[in-house]
Amino acid sequence: MSPAIIAPSILSADFARLADEIGSVEKGGADLLHLDIMDGHFVPNITIGPPVVASIRKCTTLPLDAHLMIEDPARYVDELIRAGVNWISVHVEADHHLHRTIQHIQSQGVRAGVALNPATPIHALEEVLPNLDFVLVMSVNPGFGGQQFIPSTLQKIRKLREEITSNRYRARIEIDGGVDTGNLAELLAAGADMIVAGSAVFKSRTSPCEAVQEMKEIARFQTAATERL
Ligand code: DX5
Ligand code: ZN
Repeated sequence: MSPAIIAPSILSADFARLADEIGSVEKGGADLLHLDIMDGHFVPNITIGPPVVASIRKCTTLPLDAHLMIEDPARYVDELIRAGVNWISVHVEADHHLHRTIQHIQSQGVRAGVALNPATPIHALEEVLPNLDFVLVMSVNPGFGGQQFIPSTLQKIRKLREEITSNRYRARIEIDGGVDTGNLAELLAAGADMIVAGSAVFKSRTSPCEAVQEMKEIARFQTAATERL
């Protein structure tokens, strides 16, 4: 078993110094860079689109993970892939043709995931779970960084992990929202293996680099502990 993937979310970074901020998490050992794409419709906030993603692509070798918080997300999949993303998640609540979108993403050699809002039950994924590369479980309501972790998410992760393991599906579980060094070990133990963290990394009391190092260390420790069981 390899340690969980640590994916800093640039939503909480200083966008005027974005290349430096990304360099800092890269130095800390980040595995993936999480990019929150928001349209002001699906969520009340607006962030970045394909041109900014293409610029980010040029300043890092990290794989890019695009979390699409937009209505009818399939419209932007091709453009984002051309901009250089490697993982894409779409919200089940925003896509009427989820199966087709997943197939299309994967046909381009990109990993496909489906995101669930806190109010959306796991069974909404029943028909597509066998095909997914990952499930993004939102542990805050999407739209903003720095919100408080919703505790019932832990049980949702345990249930999803059980379903994935018992059916021998390959999907990873990505957790997004309110994650920090205080709840990370518990989330890993529940079965999350892709960890998104925005404010805990970019607004850390130390530095983004050290914050990632600390999270990597917790993930390594957790993996070693699980292997000893
Ligand atoms: C929220 C975004 C998250 C956000 C998480 O809608 O999907 O990726 O950056 O931020 P934190 O880690 O601060 O909760
Ligand atoms: Zn996100």
